[in-house]
Amino acid sequence: MKGVTIVDHPLVQHKLTVLRDKTTSTRTFRDATREISMLIGYEVTRDLPLELVEIETPVAAARSAVLAGKKLVFAPILRSGMGMLDGMLELAPSARVAHIGLYRDPQTLGAVEYYYKTPADVAERLVIVLDPMLATGHTAVAAIDRLKEQGAANIRFACLLASRAGVDNLRGAHSDVAVWTAAVDDELNDHGYIVPGLGDAGDRLYGTR
Ligand code: URA
Repeated sequence: MKGVTIVDHPLVQHKLTVLRDKTTSTRTFRDATREISMLIGYEVTRDLPLELVEIETPVAAARSAVLAGKKLVFAPILRSGMGMLDGMLELAPSARVAHIGLYRDPQTLGAVEYYYKTPADVAERLVIVLDPMLATGHTAVAAIDRLKEQGAANIRFACLLASRAGVDNLRGAHSDVAVWTAAVDDELNDHGYIVPGLGDAGDRLYGTR
């Protein structure tokens, strides 16, 4: 699938199975989400630009690489995107955070905005949108629409699990936005849930069901 990276590292695939298993406790689900998010984040940031700086090691002068330019914005889509944030921040602790509050209307499955707050210079940064589930793609498309309205031009999307339809909808609306995921499942059910999926990521993260 063009523009989609499936992170097939064994640790990622193992943790995805822990997430899929309905007997996994809330605590383990939350821990596994943090861990798998960090591993996926490692791949999402693999090609970040570097520049050389002069430093002194305890032994000699050296030219060594650091991240170049403006840094990252992580943009979790509330509420389940928050489950991915800590793992991402372990990789890039200085990153800025944008909060995007969208919920899915259960009837239409369309995205409804209730909160939106981003760093002012979002247009100059790489924005990594976080949502564990890329299901219908409606929420992802609405979040990216909103970020682009604000001038964001360099956007990536990180999730734990995607559906084929979600990938098609996101990439159909925003072909410049690449997707990283641990797997792509074939089906969506009538409620817009990914099948076999892992259930409601927000409920499983926060123990609300
Ligand atoms: N949101 C979820 O939490 N799970 C799904 O399967 C689809 C959307």
